[in-house]
Amino acid sequence: MPLVSMRQLLDEAAKGGYGVGAFNVNDMEQVQAVMEAARQTNSPAIISASRGARKFAQDRYLFHLILAANELYPEIPLVMHLDHGNSFETCKSAIELGYTSVMMDGSLKEDGKTPASFEENVAVTKQVVDYAHERGVTVEGEIGVLGGIEDGHGAGGTGLEHITDPDQAVEFAERTGVDALAIAIGTSHGAYKFSKKPDGSVLKMNVLLAIHKRLPNTHLVMHGSSSVPKDLHDIINKYGGKLKPTWGVPIEEIQLGIRNGVRKVNVDTDNRLAITGAVRKVLWESPEAFDPRAYLRPAREAMQKVVALRMKQFGQAGHAGDYKAVSIAEIAKGYKNGTLSTKPLVAR
Ligand code: 13P
Repeated sequence: MPLVSMRQLLDEAAKGGYGVGAFNVNDMEQVQAVMEAARQTNSPAIISASRGARKFAQDRYLFHLILAANELYPEIPLVMHLDHGNSFETCKSAIELGYTSVMMDGSLKEDGKTPASFEENVAVTKQVVDYAHERGVTVEGEIGVLGGIEDGHGAGGTGLEHITDPDQAVEFAERTGVDALAIAIGTSHGAYKFSKKPDGSVLKMNVLLAIHKRLPNTHLVMHGSSSVPKDLHDIINKYGGKLKPTWGVPIEEIQLGIRNGVRKVNVDTDNRLAITGAVRKVLWESPEAFDPRAYLRPAREAMQKVVALRMKQFGQAGHAGDYKAVSIAEIAKGYKNGTLSTKPLVAR
């Protein structure tokens, strides 16, 4: 199966009423972990690479890993997605490489730190949409600003400073024609999201519900959706780590989101925690070990376990065989002739 357009994958998820995890990768073991979990659970898969990942692994290495994954797992609909593109040029370079989906995060200026104005966000996102759709590539935009910093990208803060305004979300979707819309509802990137189990004062699910009501057919995206499970946190600290107490986004809140228009759920931190815990355990228990495979293998297995669990929890498990990939060229035609709508349905 060729790499799939994220638009196709999310349209299918909407039909089936499930969400799809988007898992960040930086290296071969992480790609393998996602693909094995997808095979194990028979799930469609989204692999995300941030600018940081592209720099760490180098574009060609990373992209060829994805091609290898696609070749080795032909039964898995697979999307290669750019996470948090900071400019038109960054998105264009991913599209030229062969990514089938890009995120233009115009909520921040090109420095990836300073909140942008609404008009700046609309302008750069629309520019990416026009370029990407002509080539059959999906675009995710972001309205409102997430908290935290990941890979040097982010405005910092708690995530409550720039919660998405539902009216602006509607205007943004209408003016840009994005395929998927990331919204800010109080989540942040990284391990330190909340200081206690989040309630409605810090995790604004009511905002998500209000946006879904106004944009019932728009694919919503939840960023910062790691649950930061206590068991993964504890393994790290048991084997010499020093993580502070913290809370992530409870799975039941993500599932509530999925029942209300969330189709893509971004997870990175949980996998980082799983990998680090596994590596620490081996090196702590076997200080004489020096073969990298001694810790990379359990690290890969630990990530696979988390990804497989999330695939089941988000509902994508069992759906890999539901459809065949439509080629990117066909998708481009669909945007052109209007069979793939870029006009959101708005409930006024
Ligand atoms: P987490 O840090 O919660 O895993 O979020 C990842 C993310 O949103 C990537 O864009």
